Amino acid sequence: MSGFVSSSIGKKFFMSITGLFLVMFLLVHLTANLALLLGPDAFNVVSHFMGTNPIIQIVQPLLAIGFAVHIIYASILTLQNQKARGSENYSTVTNSHQSSWASKNMYILGTVIFSFLVLHLINFFWKIKVTGSPLLNEVNVDGEMMENAYALVAGLFTDASLGLAYSIIYVIGAIALGFHLTHGFWSAFQTIGFSNDAWRKRLSVIGYLFAFLVGGGFAIIPIFLMLFA
Ligand code: HEM
Repeated sequence: MSGFVSSSIGKKFFMSITGLFLVMFLLVHLTANLALLLGPDAFNVVSHFMGTNPIIQIVQPLLAIGFAVHIIYASILTLQNQKARGSENYSTVTNSHQSSWASKNMYILGTVIFSFLVLHLINFFWKIKVTGSPLLNEVNVDGEMMENAYALVAGLFTDASLGLAYSIIYVIGAIALGFHLTHGFWSAFQTIGFSNDAWRKRLSVIGYLFAFLVGGGFAIIPIFLMLFA
C-alpha cells in the first residue's frame, strides 16, 4: 500500500479522487452563491443554512484536507515531470503536440486558482468565521435574525475604490477554474479507471460543458453585483 501511495500512479489517483471531491464542492458552492442573483433575503437564508447545518460543518475540514492533498501531490508530480523531461523521447514530444493548452498548463492554472482562493478566503470566510465585519450586522428575514452575508459579498464588488479591481480578479479566477476543469474533469475519471474508448469522448464533452457552466457561473456573480447591487 505504501508503495502505491508513493508511486506516480498512486499520487495521480489521490489527485483525481480529491479533484472529484472538489468538483462536488464547486457544484454546491456555485448553487448556493447563485442565490446572490435573487437578492439579499434569498442569499442570507442560504448562507445561514450553510453556516449552521451540521453536515456542512463536518465536510468543511475535509474540504481543507482535500485541497491540501490535491495541491501537494500536484506539486510533487509537476517537479517529477520537469526532472523527467530531460529524457523526453520523440513519442512524448509528438503527444504533447496533441494535448490541449489547458492540459499543458494545469499547474500554472492551479497556481492562479490557489492565489485567488487565498484572497477569496480573506475577503469572506475569514470575516464571517473569525474577525467579523460591520457589514455583517444582523438582519431580520421572515422573523428570523441572521448575519447580512449579502452585504459583505455585494459590498466587495460595489466598493467605490476597489470594487472594479475585485470584480476583475474574481472573473480571472473563474476563467482559470473553467480552463483547469476542461482537462481536470475527464482526466480524473480516466485516472481512476472509469473511462474507456466510448466514455473518453463523452466525458470530455461533459467536462467541457461542466467547465463552461462552473467558470461562467462564478464569473457572472461579481459582474451582476457590480452592475445591479
Ligand atoms: C463569485 C464567486 C464566489 C463567491 C461570491 C463566493 C462566496 C463565498 C463566501 C460568501 C464564502 C464564505 C462562506 C461562509 O463561511 O459562510 C466562501 C467560502 C469559500 N469559497 Fe467561495 N465564492 C466564490 C467563488 C469561489 C471559487 C471559484 C472557489 C474555488 C476555487 C471558492 C472556494 C471557497 C472555499 C474553499 C471557501 C471556504 C469553505 C466554505 O466556507 O464553504 N469560492 N465563498
